[in-house]
Amino acid sequence: MTVPPAEFVLPTRFGRAAFGGCYAPETLMTPLLELEAAFRAAQADPDFGVALARELREFAGRATPLTPAPQLARATGLQALYLKREDLAHTGAHKINNALGQALLARRMGKTEIIAETGAGQHGVATAAACARLGLVCTVYMGATDMARQAPNVARMKLLGANVIPVTAGQGTLRAAVNEAMRAWAARCDRAHYILGSALGPHPFPTIVRSFQRVIGDEARRQVLAAHGTLPEAIVACAGGGSNALGLLVPFAEDNLRRMAVEAGGHGRELGEHAARLDGGRTGVLHGCKTLLLQDSHGYTAGTASISAGLDYPALGPELAALAVDGRVEVWRASDEEAFAAAQQLCALEGILPALESSHALAALPRLAREGVRVVLLGLSGRGDKDIASYERALKSGGAA
Ligand SMILES: Cc1ncc(COP(=O)(O)O)c(C=O)c1O
Repeated sequence: MTVPPAEFVLPTRFGRAAFGGCYAPETLMTPLLELEAAFRAAQADPDFGVALARELREFAGRATPLTPAPQLARATGLQALYLKREDLAHTGAHKINNALGQALLARRMGKTEIIAETGAGQHGVATAAACARLGLVCTVYMGATDMARQAPNVARMKLLGANVIPVTAGQGTLRAAVNEAMRAWAARCDRAHYILGSALGPHPFPTIVRSFQRVIGDEARRQVLAAHGTLPEAIVACAGGGSNALGLLVPFAEDNLRRMAVEAGGHGRELGEHAARLDGGRTGVLHGCKTLLLQDSHGYTAGTASISAGLDYPALGPELAALAVDGRVEVWRASDEEAFAAAQQLCALEGILPALESSHALAALPRLAREGVRVVLLGLSGRGDKDIASYERALKSGGAA
């Protein structure tokens, strides 16, 4: 076993607010230091880069296409709209980029077992697929509420060989699943690696996840320049923890354009009715990092609500939160109803069924057009097959599920 350095080397904090950090129990400090050292070594090793690029190409199906969406552009008042199609990546969402990267890293560290949490099930499915491919044992923790609303993904994880453990604590959503996954990792970290699914958690996870996801924006930048000749005026993605948003936005960090992330506005503006952390949250610590967090007047982490399991989490990832506070990313919210209407519009006009998470980004398009934006690049983070039951319910009730 390698001896980890005594201190972290990578920057652990983001922005003027100094969000991030490593608020982890003593039992996790050794594996976290070991993980950072292994990640740095892998980044410096050209063979790791070659192996990851091969898996992303041959297994995940990258590069994902950039699809012009002229009908939706017209209907929402834009001149041009380009969709970065992470829904066409293997397993149906951007989550496979991070799952493959971390699974390769785990194997390089000599780990034989993977622990993961999942909300919408996309990270769980991606991790189960990566583990099957790389010969790793896989256990996924998932909230009981999320297991019910994302049932197709539970079946997919099981078919791919994962042991799916229901978590009934709290609201039975992502927050409770992360708690259980962290507990399991602390008990088994000698042989297990924890593949965290979003740009969240204690250092070095936010940096690792964002690094494996920036392939989205690196590809999209080349593709949009080739397709449109210039950069778009705005880039928009949905934000749960923030991994697809950061992956898309970071390669455009120095460009003169609007960078947008859209959170879950749920069904109301009271605490507990949404997962909009920017204007609803305050600085706090959850799952090992300091960030914008929905909390009650006593500082207890608040409950959340959203039509989409993948956005239903009380904390915004620390790097995205820092970019928002520093004014480098604008964070908007879209309600359940707006997201559902936007999904229907994409289906009808472009023949693409989006994930409920991605539909929140789509819901921002008319407002962008009203503000004078003409050309938009949108991160379509995943496909909507997992959400069929929610869509059916919403269709029957004539509104949000
Ligand atoms: C399709 C899809 N998009 C977006 C998200 C939100 O995650 P993140 O903010 O890490 O991209 C999820 C989470 O499960 C998802 O499944």
